Amino acid sequence: MNAVQAFHRRSIHDRDQFWREESAQVHWETPFSQILDESKLPFAKWFVGGKTNLCFNAVDRWLDSRADQPALIWVSTEVNQEQTYTYRQLYQEVNAVAAMLRAQGVGQGDRVLIYMPMIPAAVFAMLACVRIGAIHSVVFGGFASVNLAQRIDDAAPKVIVCADAGSRGGKVTPYKNLLDKAISLSEHPPEKVIVVDRGLFAFEPVVGRDLDYATLRTQFNDAIVPVTWLESSAPSYVLYTSGTTGKPKGVQRDTGGYAVALASSMQRIFNGKPGDTFLCTSDIGWVVGHSYIVYGPLIGGQTTILYEGTPVRPDGGILWSLVERFKVNTMFSAPTAIRVLKKQDETLLKKYDLSSLRALYMAGEPLDEPTAKWIAEGLGKPIIDNYWQTETGWPILAGQPGIANVPTKFGSPSFPVYGFDVRVIDEQTGQDLGPNQKGVLAIVPPLPPGAMTTIWGDDARFVDTYFSTIPGRQVYSTFDWGLFDEDRYFFILGRTDDVINVAGHRLGTREIEESINCHAAVAESAVVGIADQLKGQVAVGFAVLKDPGLLDVAGATQRLESEIMKLVDEQLGAIARPARVRFVTTLPKTRSGKVLRRAIVAVCEGRDPGDLTTIEDPTALEQIKDSL
Ligand code: PRX
Repeated sequence: MNAVQAFHRRSIHDRDQFWREESAQVHWETPFSQILDESKLPFAKWFVGGKTNLCFNAVDRWLDSRADQPALIWVSTEVNQEQTYTYRQLYQEVNAVAAMLRAQGVGQGDRVLIYMPMIPAAVFAMLACVRIGAIHSVVFGGFASVNLAQRIDDAAPKVIVCADAGSRGGKVTPYKNLLDKAISLSEHPPEKVIVVDRGLFAFEPVVGRDLDYATLRTQFNDAIVPVTWLESSAPSYVLYTSGTTGKPKGVQRDTGGYAVALASSMQRIFNGKPGDTFLCTSDIGWVVGHSYIVYGPLIGGQTTILYEGTPVRPDGGILWSLVERFKVNTMFSAPTAIRVLKKQDETLLKKYDLSSLRALYMAGEPLDEPTAKWIAEGLGKPIIDNYWQTETGWPILAGQPGIANVPTKFGSPSFPVYGFDVRVIDEQTGQDLGPNQKGVLAIVPPLPPGAMTTIWGDDARFVDTYFSTIPGRQVYSTFDWGLFDEDRYFFILGRTDDVINVAGHRLGTREIEESINCHAAVAESAVVGIADQLKGQVAVGFAVLKDPGLLDVAGATQRLESEIMKLVDEQLGAIARPARVRFVTTLPKTRSGKVLRRAIVAVCEGRDPGDLTTIEDPTALEQIKDSL
């Protein structure tokens, strides 16, 4: 057993003492009386009775020792602006926004939805919410109005904070207009909308509802808003994620457990210390952005870089130039970004002084060996694959150099992270599997501190979705296939459900199908994820038309394909747009009417579709093949 495995073992077998020690890394205003309440598993309450606050741990706590250290460095290659905020300045900004929210009547437990691009005000808004005990729900800026409306309806926010627009690769997206449309579709319109006007896209403020951020900011210039101390289990945020159904799940996170998990992971997984600089290229709309752009680095007393831009503008060296300029110690990105860079001039990897950089962490999708090798050799730095989910909030599997340097294996996110009792389980029998046997990757409850505590407003769905799929055992299913080898290195082998991963973005095929089905000409559809060299997967849609006669009309299917793409764009956002939409007269289904997705994927990827004894109409699969 290596040191990482021994550390893990202790976290499971000497759990309470282990987490008591880890919990010392955060400030507790009131000490907890119990490490874990597991009387109602799979619901777990960590650090019962303890009071703390995420904003205090991320900001206030550093005012004594690091007031003048940069806390947040914003770099935008979209609008060519930069801005640095020291911990003292961050404190002031966050307090001003907290005061703004309070002035709108936002208090503990109220929801605030944040629909913003990668700008500092988005970070201030998140921290301001948790400061006053309000629950934020950040919605990824790449999502469009229908996605947004669903989330507004579920979270019922009192206030929404947005910006006029964002920009990606030079293309401006009018956030405020998309939000207005979403609010018009929603049953729970917010009382107020606070708009950061960047001057990127003109908009009409709604009188009586919309407020200008800059005006409020001046009004609350020197405001100080005392921290609201929260019981450890009080929700900090809700972050929506896709699953098998069309309705996204609001992943709810606690306060104390999350603070401890992040503080601990900053040291043990990311091997960092206060004063370091952290660059994470994710987006605040995703879990990686929540944990490792905003909360983790700040709770760890580090400098975090908020980057608005793509990895290839002005050229493919931009990320490395940031590492050089800001002496980045730890970098976190996604395999997609690296695959994009692979297509760029390779000498850009050698052009900058990367001596400050200790390691590059990658997560969000499988890290293929060619990409891992290319970047490891190009940078001459350790590449640390880590595997986790929106639900868990921090890595489930990872190399953990803060504990010990153990060699990595290509294609493997190494070992279970302490606190996660990870198993590979046979989906039929529910039994634990041994080395080199493929099964469902599952976690024996309790989930560790920092993991989701429930689905917002739906405890039953939490239990049904995650803890009821393995026969005879109440264990958390990750919905990923996995195995471990004879040295106990783990490997991830793809999703067991209909979730797909496009360029590191997690999407539900059901949501895309529902959008396609909104087209007047479509009777039904099936969306699958097909392997793609650059994006990992792309969505491909197959639609059955209400009027099959259209298939014979010249140009009709091309027109319909582009109409459907536009529709998905408008409803869900460009990331959900299928790469192709093809038309068939029937979908391959079982006799009980279930679409045979795995067979469709196999045919699309040129593989053998496997066992087809249950298929109702074998010609349906032929049609899929022909349509491509
Ligand atoms: O299928 C796994 C894949 O991404 C899913 C979770 O996506 P999301 O909720 O967006 O959270 C991302 C947090 C990093 C997982 O169920 N996934 C994530 N990391 C990896 C991965 N697949 C393979 N290797 C990884 N390192």
